[in-house]
Amino acid sequence: MTIGKDIEKAAQIIRAGGLVAFPTETVYGLGANALNPIAVAKIFEVKKRPSFDPLIVHIHSYDEIYSLFASPVCQWVEKLSDAFWPGPLTIVHRKSALVPHIITSGLETVAVRMPAHKTAIALLQAAQCPIAAPSANRFGQISPTEAKHVTKQLSDIDYVLQGEKVSLGIESTVVAVAEQGCFVLRPGVITAEDIQQVVPLLQHNPYDDVSSLASPGLLKSHYAPSKPMYLLSDLNNTKLPPHSGLIVHSNENKWNNAIKVFRTSATHDYKEVASQLFAAFHTMEDDDTVQQIFIEPVKEIGIGMAIMDRINKAVFKYK
Ligand code: TXA
Ligand code: MG
Repeated sequence: MTIGKDIEKAAQIIRAGGLVAFPTETVYGLGANALNPIAVAKIFEVKKRPSFDPLIVHIHSYDEIYSLFASPVCQWVEKLSDAFWPGPLTIVHRKSALVPHIITSGLETVAVRMPAHKTAIALLQAAQCPIAAPSANRFGQISPTEAKHVTKQLSDIDYVLQGEKVSLGIESTVVAVAEQGCFVLRPGVITAEDIQQVVPLLQHNPYDDVSSLASPGLLKSHYAPSKPMYLLSDLNNTKLPPHSGLIVHSNENKWNNAIKVFRTSATHDYKEVASQLFAAFHTMEDDDTVQQIFIEPVKEIGIGMAIMDRINKAVFKYK
């Protein structure tokens, strides 16, 4: 695997059916030509991702919507893409015949996103094809926000493209869109309140009747470090067990026996917390002195919903 900043080289590899990890504004993706089913199959193999978990297709121009989504394209797609693209919003809509079944795990819908990230857009333009890319981590493990997080977890990638920094730090909001309105499948930095400004919000997934599979992004355990992780609020006293790592979101800290502390923010600024969350997980995972991790919860308002979604999935196994 080589690591570098060469867009043209990365694009050539994608066109030739290879795998390239690349940064986006949310997390690093592991990309392949979305229209080449054999290339896409390699993504599942390298990530050890179960074949029932569908991938997101990345695009750089609005026209691509009309080749990937079945017509008629639902009215809300234009509203959502006008409001939030390029950006951290993934739209799930009935797919066209062009989209290979391996991408959608056999579902009748496909997930599409236009990233707001210079390097990702330059790669999409140079490759001249839509790029299928899940987060570039092993299935169930921590999403990568830096090139070194990718190389830690994955081998057998042809190229790791470096470029503009990852700014947001948690994955895109995923919404299913149908005539009736839209339903949030995975919370992200774009909140349900933001979406409700432009499209009616549904209480149920409009595609539930056409697929028995819930979005695997809703799996209860995901994004988990390889060490036990617990919520600080579940602790009965104010002393941490020996060899604990501590992740907090402000300068206040009464648990002073932690062996290592990662502060995602000085002031509970949730944008900062989101951008540092996976870096905190990786730091604790990589530190051999840390045997278990405690993390401070945040309030489930605004971006706090997405942050708690990721934290709850990381602590779930240890509950
Ligand atoms: O920010 C992001 O979305 C990043 C960057 C690389 O774009 N990608 C990402 O991909 O997080 P991944 O594979 O880790 O998450 C994609 C989510 C999964 O939860 C998957 O189940 C869901 O999108 N998804 C994909 N296609 C779907 C579909 N047709 N119906 C429902 N959910 C779908
Ligand atoms: Mg992922």
